[in-house]
Amino acid sequence: MCGIVAYLGKKTARPILLEGLKRLEYRGYDSAGIAIVTDGKLYLERRVGRVGNLEEAIDGRKEFDGSLGLCHTRWATHGGVTDFNAHPHRDDRHGIVVVHNGIIENYSALKQYLQEKGHTFASQTDTEVLAMLIGELYEGDIEKAVQAALREVTGAYAIAVICEKEPNVLVAARKGSPLMVGIGSDNEYIVASDGAAIIAHTARVIMLDDYNVVKITRDGFHTTDIHNTPLSPKVQQLEIDLEQIELGAFPHFMLKEIFEQPSSVRACIGGRMNIREGKVVLGGLSSFAKELTKASQVILTAQGTALHAAMIGRYMLEDLAKIPSHTEYASEFRYRNPVIEENTVVVAVSQSGETADTLAALYEAKERGALAIGVVNVVGSSIARETDAGVYLRVGPEIGVASTKAFIGQVGALALISFYMARKRYMSADQCIDMMKEMEAIPAKIEKILESAPRIKKITEKYIERENWLFLGRGYNYPTALEGALKLKEISYIHAEGMPAAEMKHGPIALINEGMPAVFIANRGRQYEKVMSNIQEVRSRGGHVIAVATEGDTEIAKHVQDVMYIPDVCEPLSPMLAVVPLQLMAYYAAVARGHDVDKPRNLAKSVTVE
Ligand code: F6R
Repeated sequence: MCGIVAYLGKKTARPILLEGLKRLEYRGYDSAGIAIVTDGKLYLERRVGRVGNLEEAIDGRKEFDGSLGLCHTRWATHGGVTDFNAHPHRDDRHGIVVVHNGIIENYSALKQYLQEKGHTFASQTDTEVLAMLIGELYEGDIEKAVQAALREVTGAYAIAVICEKEPNVLVAARKGSPLMVGIGSDNEYIVASDGAAIIAHTARVIMLDDYNVVKITRDGFHTTDIHNTPLSPKVQQLEIDLEQIELGAFPHFMLKEIFEQPSSVRACIGGRMNIREGKVVLGGLSSFAKELTKASQVILTAQGTALHAAMIGRYMLEDLAKIPSHTEYASEFRYRNPVIEENTVVVAVSQSGETADTLAALYEAKERGALAIGVVNVVGSSIARETDAGVYLRVGPEIGVASTKAFIGQVGALALISFYMARKRYMSADQCIDMMKEMEAIPAKIEKILESAPRIKKITEKYIERENWLFLGRGYNYPTALEGALKLKEISYIHAEGMPAAEMKHGPIALINEGMPAVFIANRGRQYEKVMSNIQEVRSRGGHVIAVATEGDTEIAKHVQDVMYIPDVCEPLSPMLAVVPLQLMAYYAAVARGHDVDKPRNLAKSVTVE
């Protein structure tokens, strides 16, 4: 969603800020802004649209050549998409500017208080209220004013603040929204909401914790809480490779990440399977082995693609480990007054580790006494930190807004957790060895599917004029059908519905008309015959069937218009293969329809508001 980059050092801030902002573009935004202090004066510019518009607006303007500044990409929450509502926001007295991710929940009451004090507002945003509040409390020390203001606000924030009257000071703070400080050489600092904006300059960072306030000057930095109590955060290494966040030879991050999936799976499972002994090695769970053995139920909670992976995880936990398991939208779980029995394990699945609903569900589950496990990609993210234990996906930064390699990683990590729990209960070492061998073979099988990308592209292009699609699957591949439909919707803007193949007869079959594309996941497995019957039902009503089928199944080709083959695989892991042609279809459909795949309209990479 929103992105923050701020700089204080000896260099010209502008190129560092703009480059950082471009690296955050993938998160989704609708406007951008920058403020720089040059020769003791503050200059500010904001623009609706791309970072490129902002760059053009300040191009060649010497007043933006200072070495202290901050910038922001905004994804509108409070107030429409206008230049005035874009960040940075400034107070009306002291030249204080603020960039902010999150939501100040009590902004309305604070605004009224500030209006009574004579402040006038130019925007409809909660962030401007925070800037004015800091200004109202300013008595010549920006750090103190920020601490005082943050003691008054409720809600979530990551902020960076500068003040014209203190041209050698940058202040940043966080609660509930990620923020880190990159420590460069020679007293150079970059504050950012995402390591992608820092890694080109330094890998040494401190990750701010909730209620941390950091004051950076040209001589160093110190950290306190909002009551000015000194803290000593530890310096860590950012685990990001510059190569991972650059496109290389690919036209889009989404395609790059689809093609990275064989190595994503290798990274996810690497060192975690002792195949000789039939043992799963998950260091992140080892301190809770006892609790996991006696788990009475598992609730997996997530949103979007992560929820689809969680659904597959649920099937595996029941099928392999025989543990009663449920999945639920985190947004629903949280408000439903859920019953958490003794020995309940809650698994929060999230690529970013920052999804507001998933985080809130996690807090709810912990409060009700559940053991909280995270299945998260971003190391050190809020969900990773708030869970009792967890398993990282290890798939590297996912830049494509449409999640692909994280989905594969989530299913892979959940499979490992299922094997781990199954081994502690009913699964024999031999059975586990068989499953692990299947898992070990997945990367090469994905590679094989990727070789057929040109064929999948051709098939897709036959159907791109169609505005309504169905995705159908059964068992383990019902969630895969949901994921296929979601991928198509979010980047090609085609209406698609995913559902269990058997559900179609209970209503949606009425939608089928001549030529309507229906994608069936029809790989070999327990439900193959049933899926074949569902295919006939669509065909006899004029629908065009595109089947994902198992290599060697030549029979199916006689009953459907098009087939996309995947290698043979055991059922629990089949979604890790079946999803790949669906990801490619969505990608090729979006490109053929002329959409910017990496910047889909209205979408944000990480949804940090409820
Ligand atoms: C879809 C997509 C979203 C996310 C969802 C949860 O391609 O990316 O549906 O899966 O917003 O995000 P995380 O996994 O970061 O919690």
